[in-house]
Amino acid sequence: MRNEAHRLWTAVSAAEPETRALARFLADWPAAAPPAPQPRPAPCEPAAPLPVLRWLPRMALDADRFGGVFVETLCRAAGSLDWRQTYSLADAGESFLRNYGWAELVRPAAATGFVQISCGVLVLGPNTFYPAHRHEAEEIYLPLAGTAEWQQGDAGWRRRSPGTLIHHSSEEPHAMRTGEHPLLAMYLWRSVDLRQRARLDRRSAG
Ligand SMILES: [Fe+2]
Repeated sequence: MRNEAHRLWTAVSAAEPETRALARFLADWPAAAPPAPQPRPAPCEPAAPLPVLRWLPRMALDADRFGGVFVETLCRAAGSLDWRQTYSLADAGESFLRNYGWAELVRPAAATGFVQISCGVLVLGPNTFYPAHRHEAEEIYLPLAGTAEWQQGDAGWRRRSPGTLIHHSSEEPHAMRTGEHPLLAMYLWRSVDLRQRARLDRRSAG
């Protein structure tokens, strides 16, 4: 999926040359694939698929998806990806965790002391509110399937269609909420330290 993701980001960057942030991110795309991550968990304890993955087949058929070949390839490969959740049950609640997950497609092999890039995909189920959160890493999102609403800082909510680029500065609070459709979005993170995790903004997490 790494090469497919790079091809899609490159195509978007070529179509929108005024989006300088994306070109800056792609300039730091790793030249070679890092070593494959160690399998987790132990072979005797196969990972249960995250509940949010139940929405992927629906998104593969979404007529309005962006990067259709990439979405179809991702949905076929989903079982081989390492799906994660940043937040605990106490952090985010059961309903959110049943409708939320992400997987890295590109991750740095180790800290280098230099700016690096990670790339992955986020899935949110329908009627899901991802409360305001923030992280030091600068971020670009590219929604691929499902039109959701996004909020940056204190600005109002904006509908963002598949194919729209969304740029979050370092430590900029941002939130998302879906309606009747699930959301699949690809992201890029750019930072010296990509081992960090996003932090919920408690004022908005309610
Ligand atoms: Fe983010």
